[in-house]
Amino acid sequence: MVHEINNPIINHKLALLRRKETLPKDFRALVEDIASLLTYEVGKNFETQTIEIETPLQSCRAEFLDEKNFVVVPILRAGLAMADGALKILPNASVGHIGLYRDEVTFAPVEYCFKMPPHFSEKILLVVDPMLATGGSASAAIQLLKNHGAKKIFFMCILSAPRGLEKISGDHPDVEIYTTAIDDGLNDSCHIVPGLGDAGDRIFDTL
Ligand code: PRP
Repeated sequence: MVHEINNPIINHKLALLRRKETLPKDFRALVEDIASLLTYEVGKNFETQTIEIETPLQSCRAEFLDEKNFVVVPILRAGLAMADGALKILPNASVGHIGLYRDEVTFAPVEYCFKMPPHFSEKILLVVDPMLATGGSASAAIQLLKNHGAKKIFFMCILSAPRGLEKISGDHPDVEIYTTAIDDGLNDSCHIVPGLGDAGDRIFDTL
């Protein structure tokens, strides 16, 4: 299932993100902000436990999340900036890292890092990467997690292309996708257009 989040605040931040004049320090902050807002949207799926508490005035029943039940999983490199935003909303989540880059010729994902916290497969995983282009990287990351027993996975991205959405929906129909925009498509270099350029390069100033 694909959720395209349409919200004026997110749209404004996305517009700033797309502009080529936006500098890395501002770009990073915008990615982080949008990731926080997307985490809020994904959070509408989470279950809470109702527990009796005492306010300074009287007792009442209040809803709590099991904050240790979440793992934020950035796909390196660009996902790191989104992880910071997700962790602002879920500060007690743990973090796993999956390193993948796209081969420049074949565009196929190449794995170079897989480091996850203990017992991650029993938890709710929030896989984050700003860009879903061909979908190869996200699909491979999700498959790696499933190979280790993961059952509940959400995927969050800022920009997506129809091809990437079809890839994830086909390979992983159980994974809900949260995106702030579905762009027109991909250019010859498999970059999302109109897009925002290469998110990793803009975040880390490696253009
Ligand atoms: C970009 C992006 C995604 C991937 C999307 O990463 O951040 O991870 O490409 O493309 P796909 O959907 O076609 O797989 P990149 O490989 O440039 O690595 P980086 O984050 O280290 O820059």
